[in-house]
Amino acid sequence: MFSGVAQCSECHRIDADATRFSDDSYHHSGIGAATQSKTLSQLSQAVMTANLDASQLGPKLLTDSAWSALGRFAVSHQPADIGAFRTPSLRNVAVTAPYMHDGSIATLSEAVDHEIYYRGFSRGRPINLSIAERQALCAFLTSLTDAEYRDSATAYDGANRR
Ligand code: HEC
Repeated sequence: MFSGVAQCSECHRIDADATRFSDDSYHHSGIGAATQSKTLSQLSQAVMTANLDASQLGPKLLTDSAWSALGRFAVSHQPADIGAFRTPSLRNVAVTAPYMHDGSIATLSEAVDHEIYYRGFSRGRPINLSIAERQALCAFLTSLTDAEYRDSATAYDGANRR
């Protein structure tokens, strides 16, 4: 299902050694789009005017959720990149809640539900899965957990997983 019907592997790519499940490209996710639209023009203008270099931009994006919601645009200043984020790895995804760039989704099954809905919506072809198939997809993602990583409290800082 992951690489077939639901085509998750289009972005969460399965490379030869199946290590990362990412294409290292930027895609829209629909997360945060509603709050963004209200202030979008002033905000994108402010980002372009400030034109921060990489050393200033990193700290700014980590502390300002309005800026980070702009996604790749904060770096590229290309309008098409507004709200586009790099495909995250799915390694250890079952033990790295909360989900999405802003942590707005609490559980893995809700994150999978969002992805099934949004990816089908953006392709114009809904992904129709039964409850059992959704559960199988979650079970597959849970199988990507490294027991040593899961059991090590210090490794679980969320920072190393992307
Ligand atoms: C068009 C590219 C694309 C496709 C297809 C896609 N994803 Fe994603 N996925 C992303 C991106 C980009 C994000 C990060 C979005 C964000 O942070 O706002 C993401 C986030 C996730 C997350 C949350 C990961 C985390 O650590 O926060 C899960 C789980 C996930 N996807 C599962 C799936 C599943 C299951 C499918 C198939 C139904 C799928 N994705 C299809 C691009 C894609």
